[in-house]
Parts: sequence; structure tokens; C-alpha cells
Amino acid sequence: MRTLRLDADQLPQRVGELAELLADTVNGGASVGFLAPLGPERAVAWWRERAAAVAAGQLAVWAALDDTGRTVGTVGLAFAHPGKPNSPHRAELVKLMVHRDARGQGIGRRLLAVAEEAAAAAGITLLHLDTETDSPAEHLYRSAGWTRAGVIPDYALDPAGVLHPTTLYYKRVGTPGG
Ligand SMILES: CC(C)(COP(=O)(O)OP(=O)(O)OC[C@H]1O[C@@H](n2cnc3c(N)ncnc32)[C@H](O)[C@@H]1OP(=O)(O)O)[C@@H](O)C(=O)NCCC(=O)NCCS
Repeated sequence: MRTLRLDADQLPQRVGELAELLADTVNGGASVGFLAPLGPERAVAWWRERAAAVAAGQLAVWAALDDTGRTVGTVGLAFAHPGKPNSPHRAELVKLMVHRDARGQGIGRRLLAVAEEAAAAAGITLLHLDTETDSPAEHLYRSAGWTRAGVIPDYALDPAGVLHPTTLYYKRVGTPGG
């Protein structure tokens, strides 16, 4: 497995695989912002929209590729909007997903580490995220040194349309103030 940071030219080339990964994740029941069933057209459109944010430097996206070059995982970092000048040190970890047929092999942990290292290298000192409370991802974040900030009840619908709480996490990376 290797990871690849997708620039604005590379992302559109992998939209089909990224869309399949997103649909597999949502239709498998994971809460990543969509309701099931998520069809390929909607998933492709969503990824195409992300390319503009990558081109603008507001979003970084990584793909995890298996030995055949297939995209089996992804993670993103959303940087503070330029219109928010008090937050250049902060970024949100978004859309960490591993295809169901590739889970449990350390890919999620590797993607998380890659995003954290890249954030620190870019001068980011604080990362944050939200994840469905009691989801498998919580174990990963806690064991990777993320701090649980709190729980918001009834935060979002899961893919089946049922309200769930979300847990907020943060992690300091790099050298604060450095
Ligand atoms: C969360 C997710 C990215 C983990 O990816 P993965 O490649 O399977 O994770 P890894 O193999 O790197 O495992 C990381 C840790 O999580 C644990 N883990 C993975 N799946 C788990 C599960 N279903 N239940 C409990 N723990 C689990 C692993 O045991 C491992 O811990 P360990 O190193 O202490 O043994 C993946 O399950 C996924 O895509 N889920 C759906 C999308 C999602 O919920 N993303 C998070 C949104 S915030």
C-alpha cells in the first residue's frame, strides 16, 4: 500500500474510484455526511466539486493505493477559509474512509498519520474532527493520540436516516506557535 496526495489534476483522474469508495462507505452504513443509498452519479459529482477546493488550496486529499494501484482509502484536510484570518493554524480532518474490503490492514491508521504529518509540515498546529459516537473510528483516533473534546447529541442522521450523537476530537501537531 502507498499513499498519494492528489493535486487538482490527479483528483479528477481518480474520481471514479473515489466515488466507488464513498458509495461503499455510505451504503455500508458509515456516517460520513450522506444518506443511503448513495448512487454513483451523486458520489462522482461530490468528488468533482472537491477538485475546485483542492485547486484553491483549501483542501488536501490523499488516496491509499493497493498493490494494483486501486484506490482503497482516502483522507482529507480542510484548511481554514481565507476569509477566516484567525484560524491559519487549524485544519479539520475530513472523510477518512477505507473500502470495506480493505479494512483492518492498517490503511486507516496510515492515512491518519500521513495527514497529521502533512499538516505539521504545512505549519498547522491544531487538528480537529467529528465522528459518530461509538463508531469504529473512535478507537483509531483515541489510540492515535487524539483528545475527546465532547459529545453533541442528535448531531446527524446516519445513512439509514436515524439521528446519532457526534464526538468531537482534537490533536495538537507540530510545534504550537512555531
Ligand atoms: C475507521 C476506518 C477508516 C478504519 O480504517 P481501517 O483501515 O480498517 O483501520 P486500521 O486497519 O488502520 O485499524 C486502525 C485501528 O482501528 C481498529 N478498528 C478498525 N476497525 C474496527 C472496528 N470495526 N471495530 C473496532 N476497532 C476497529 C483496529 O483494530 C486498529 O486498532 P489497533 O491498531 O489497536 O488494532 C474504517 O473503518 C472506515 O472507513 N470506516 C467507515 C468510515 C468512517 O467511519 N470514517 C471515519 C469518519 S470520521
